Amino acid sequence: MKSTNMNGSSPNVSEETGRTLVVGSGGFMGRFVTEASLDSGRPTYILARSSSNSPSKASTIKFLQDRGATVIYGSITDKEFMEKVLKEHKIEVVISAVGGGSILDQFNLIEAIRNVDTVKRFLPSEFGHDTDRADPVEPGLTMYEQKRQIRRQVEKSGIPYTYICCNSIAAWPYHDNTHPADVLPPLDRFKIYGDGTVKAYFVAGTDIGKFTIMSIEDDRTLNKTVHFQPPSNLLNINEMASLWEEKIGRTLPRVTITEEDLLQMAKEMRIPQSVVAALTHDIFINGCQINFSLDKPTDVEVCSLYPDTPFRTINECFEDFAKKIIDNAKAVSKPAASNNAIFVPTAKPGALPITAICT
Ligand SMILES: NC(=O)c1ccc[n+]([C@@H]2O[C@H](COP(=O)([O-])OP(=O)(O)OC[C@H]3O[C@@H](n4cnc5c(N)ncnc54)[C@H](OP(=O)(O)O)[C@@H]3O)[C@@H](O)[C@H]2O)c1
Repeated sequence: MKSTNMNGSSPNVSEETGRTLVVGSGGFMGRFVTEASLDSGRPTYILARSSSNSPSKASTIKFLQDRGATVIYGSITDKEFMEKVLKEHKIEVVISAVGGGSILDQFNLIEAIRNVDTVKRFLPSEFGHDTDRADPVEPGLTMYEQKRQIRRQVEKSGIPYTYICCNSIAAWPYHDNTHPADVLPPLDRFKIYGDGTVKAYFVAGTDIGKFTIMSIEDDRTLNKTVHFQPPSNLLNINEMASLWEEKIGRTLPRVTITEEDLLQMAKEMRIPQSVVAALTHDIFINGCQINFSLDKPTDVEVCSLYPDTPFRTINECFEDFAKKIIDNAKAVSKPAASNNAIFVPTAKPGALPITAICT
């Protein structure tokens, strides 16, 4: 197996330290974490399912492999195989970023980690809210109950662990999209949840990756829950809308999505959209990211742990989204008249060419 560190050299496996296996690298969160692991110079291994038919996941795996990750094909559902992988590659850290539908697959992984007894830190697939505190409606609750079951099994097994509670991804919080950072904020109208005054933390994916990797080699995060609460990224959805309007130089209509609307969408049990609606309700109606204090001995907060490491602000993230509009506009050669243009009610002089991206 190839293993290349950040400097391009290929040390002998037995001499390397910090060998890190990321499960789910081809996915949304897994990619951020894997890139940060590679950036840190750790020998990085990625477990990918050969059965995956997604071209975008396959191209992500190829990209990470080209950056120096060692790819291993298999599934965490195969306990014996996982034990072999962990032993053969002398894996010290396992980070799982399996998706919401695969949370319980981690039982086998926990068993394998326990049996090999060489893993110094395990991060189960969390990357959201503190599931022991938050209490969303169904079907969000089922996913949280599964994450709680995994937590209890990890603790019972005596495996050294860290739970990453990074809150929301820095993007427009669409109530029906599991990966909102993959799309632009609205260009036609804002959907405002409730009265739009409940705040949440919006964290850049690159920062989720970076601080996750910092936490795995930190004794202060051993058997702790790491909360991401950067003050610069605490906004309500009205403030998010105004910030985006500032970036695009236009104001957009605001439509209210009521608490009842969100609950109705959750009740429809369309997976994964209803899970996202349930979590959106918990965030923007119940205030699940802000309605508790960090008062447990197991709580640590990332800004307090790493005060000298800056967070990307939501302002910077929205600037990136606005830049994408300009880049897309440059790339589109069709005249605006032939585009499926969006009605823009109050375009200001110098506003971004929104119509150019709506083909
Ligand atoms: N805070 C937020 O805003 C936010 C947003 C999204 C997700 N999350 C959380 O982040 C975590 C990851 O979710 P995601 O949306 O990034 O997931 P995702 O995009 O669906 O990717 C999941 C990855 O896990 C892999 N996988 C699943 N089961 C596996 C198995 N048995 N063996 C090996 N690999 C397996 C998948 O491989 P295949 O390609 O083979 O399917 C895929 O690459 C979840 O806990 C989720 O709740 C948080």
